[in-house]
Amino acid sequence: MVATILRALFLWLAEWRWIGRVSLRLPFLRRMPLRFVAGTTLEDAVAAVRALQAAGAMATIDVLGESVADRAAADRAAASYVATIERIAAEGLDANVSLKLTQMGLDLGTATCLEVLRPVAEAGRRHGVFVRVDMESSAYTDRTLEVVGALRAEGYEIGPVIQAYLHRSAGDVGQLAAARVRVRVCKGAYAEEAAIAWHDRVAINASFVDLVTTLLEADAYPGVATHDPAMIEAVARAAAQRGIGPDAYEFQMLYGVRRDLQRQLIEKGYRMRVYVPYGTEWYPYFMRRLAERPANVLFVVRSLFGEGG
Ligand code: FDA
Repeated sequence: MVATILRALFLWLAEWRWIGRVSLRLPFLRRMPLRFVAGTTLEDAVAAVRALQAAGAMATIDVLGESVADRAAADRAAASYVATIERIAAEGLDANVSLKLTQMGLDLGTATCLEVLRPVAEAGRRHGVFVRVDMESSAYTDRTLEVVGALRAEGYEIGPVIQAYLHRSAGDVGQLAAARVRVRVCKGAYAEEAAIAWHDRVAINASFVDLVTTLLEADAYPGVATHDPAMIEAVARAAAQRGIGPDAYEFQMLYGVRRDLQRQLIEKGYRMRVYVPYGTEWYPYFMRRLAERPANVLFVVRSLFGEGG
């Protein structure tokens, strides 16, 4: 009950972006998002990736931003990604990038989005940096797969995220696995109708393991994005049963979430990639992390008093 109220409260607060802007001006609160966000600048992201790399993890860098309504804003977002890719290459970081197509102008049409995204894909190709396209709500699934498919047909190293809660995902993964596309599988984070998505955990978990197994069997190097120990164990078991080693896939977790589990998996010899968000638009992302697990407020409060946890 309390968790439900808190969840609704954080999602409501996520809409009030001025709170984020004000809190950045208050020295005491400025540290607040740092549990889940690397900071506001590319410099901050590079420092976070270096620290992760020292601990044995790889990274995927996300330039935080929400959907854009005009071409100039989309081009600006794309330019930040090009700069991020160039910096990854210049610093020799073990990192790639993750982006959202609505930030790259998808609401302006798939043709515009392709134009905006191409320079990012090109920078990725020039520097050997993989471009991961996050999956947003089901209103965008077809268009996202279409844009990713078009750029792949042009020879760019780019791959989508597939959500285990969607009924359609087995079909999508079947096609992607046949082409050995690098896919990230996650449970799915949006509120979807029961007509198109499973709501019960058992069905979502079964779908998650099936999708990853299909990709493992196709030798498509899946990204296994979850903090759920049951999913991690099931995937590791499915791989081992098929004689597939831990280099054939990677686990992925969010910056600041289950750092204990991240460490344990690295110690056991698994590949771990951490999703590192940075940027001035940190506030809605941060609020969504609190909504996902209201107990995270405790981590954040503790970090305000100097214990990063
Ligand atoms: P689940 O919610 O089932 O919880 C299992 C356990 O994980 C919890 O008991 C807790 O211990 C831990 N946990 C989970 N979330 C936590 C948190 N915020 N803080 C602390 N502990 C937490 N979704 C999407 O729709 N499109 C996308 O592109 C992506 N991309 C993406 C990338 C990466 C790297 C990750 C890890 C996740 C995503 N997601 C996503 C989000 C994903 O769909 C899902 O909503 C969350 O990962 C939560 O599901 P889990 O499987 O992690 O754990």
